[in-house]
Amino acid sequence: MSTTSTALTPELNQYIADLFSAEDDFLRTLRTEAEAAGIPPIHIAPEQTGFLQVLLRAIGATTILEIGSLAGYSAIAMARALPPHGTLTALELHPTYAEFMTRKAHEAGLGSVINVVVGPALDSLAALDPTEQFDAVFIDADKPNYAKYVEAVLPMMRPGGVIIGDNALAWGEVANEQTTFEPENVHGIRSFNSYVASHPRLQATLVPLGDGMTIATVLAS
Ligand SMILES: C[S@@+](CC[C@H](N)C(=O)[O-])C[C@H]1O[C@@H](n2cnc3c(N)ncnc32)[C@H](O)[C@@H]1O
Repeated sequence: MSTTSTALTPELNQYIADLFSAEDDFLRTLRTEAEAAGIPPIHIAPEQTGFLQVLLRAIGATTILEIGSLAGYSAIAMARALPPHGTLTALELHPTYAEFMTRKAHEAGLGSVINVVVGPALDSLAALDPTEQFDAVFIDADKPNYAKYVEAVLPMMRPGGVIIGDNALAWGEVANEQTTFEPENVHGIRSFNSYVASHPRLQATLVPLGDGMTIATVLAS
């Protein structure tokens, strides 16, 4: 029996990435091309790609919604875990990032799978067909709105689906009440974590991979 969790050192993290990352040459090149195009390197960590694919395959996901897509790194990784008829809707604020991502989705052979919607995600969500059903939602946009995103997507989730929020450890600051590091963002993450932890229609946990992912499964109402 163990009463403590093993802390993830850089060496252990590298071990996980070496063995379980789903990053290939295409995704590696996407990262370098995005950086060369002036897009900030704030995508998920390579070791998160394999985890997301395992999770999506385990629940048999065919419809994914991503909120905050940047250059398409996580979207392309997740779309690769979809069956042939699957779809991924990607909500992204910045037109130039969305354009880059759309081009990369086509290059990856996923042009008909990934649909990029440009604009503030809360507006894009409100404009979605309310009969739309998602198996998985990956939230990785502006942190203060995370809980609002959950509220907006819950009616569109199928029971047994999952909601995943990235940066759940808030750059290591989530448990530091005295933090002076990006307090609005840290507070947004804390509110999101508490919201999903106590929501009667969700069962949640936090997986400390990358900067942490809070994962909530949607219970039958
Ligand atoms: C951390 S990055 C996403 C990284 C991406 N998920 C990946 O791992 O490849 C956050 C993205 O959210 C976008 N974003 C921020 N606020 C947003 C909003 N209100 N609506 C939609 N997208 C937003 C940013 O433009 C940025 O591209």
